[in-house]
Amino acid sequence: MRFYNRAVDPRPVGVFDSGVGGLTVLHECLVTMPHEDFVYLGDHARLPYGPRPLDEIRGFAREIGAFLERLGVKLVVVACNTATSAALPQLQEELRVPVIGVIAPEAHAAVQATRNRRVGLMATEGTVAASRYAELVHALDAGIEFFPLACPELVPLIEADELDSERIDAAVRGYAAPLKRAGVDTVILGCTHYPLVQPTLQRVFGRSTTLVFSAVETAREVAETLAKKGFEQSPDREGDYRFLTTGDPASFRVMGKRFLQLPIREVEHVTLAELALA
Ligand code: DGL
Repeated sequence: MRFYNRAVDPRPVGVFDSGVGGLTVLHECLVTMPHEDFVYLGDHARLPYGPRPLDEIRGFAREIGAFLERLGVKLVVVACNTATSAALPQLQEELRVPVIGVIAPEAHAAVQATRNRRVGLMATEGTVAASRYAELVHALDAGIEFFPLACPELVPLIEADELDSERIDAAVRGYAAPLKRAGVDTVILGCTHYPLVQPTLQRVFGRSTTLVFSAVETAREVAETLAKKGFEQSPDREGDYRFLTTGDPASFRVMGKRFLQLPIREVEHVTLAELALA
């Protein structure tokens, strides 16, 4: 038997996204912190967030943040670039628990990676409209030339399981063309769905372009925050994970397995009215 000189914190970590894209972030969290419990909420009933007005997305994110806090989570991960762009400051002001988004770790990694100081961004319309990436990149290096590009076709194609299709290849080539013409050497994949098409993106951009995505950096930030705040679980246990969706639990299971690359047993349904109550 082992003894610890500090208390363990049994509360789960809350993670949310508009759909299953955030499971790419959850996957890294489960690998980095296998001893922690996680609860993941996908807001499928209102997916996609990308084309919606920022105010509306902010309202959704605030409901979900409050709902997760009521469930007793110890930290909230906003595993959605659009929701992070629209609502991170409000969530951090309103919730009692720490809130971590996916944008700052990517901006930081891109500034470190670029050699010619020309950085591109591929993201949803909402993320591009919010300009948070540009602000963060320029706060770290004001001399960087930044090229943001909204890619509205990608999320519907990825959600529709079109990963091997000609259409996704054509869409990626179309979006990559102006960024390549701009001479960027680093591209931020500013949407939690895009790691699913990373091989296509890497082929189109070539090895000399650095593709930055947030899952690894975000998981590291979550682990460090839990450690520094004394919120960690005992390292000797294996954690559990639980799934909630506002949409159809059966389709979440099918899609989710592909994004998570780990088994998904049960998926619970949450109504929008329950979220609104929180
Ligand atoms: N999860 C969103 C993001 O990371 C993409 C999907 C959506 O538009 O809702 O930006």
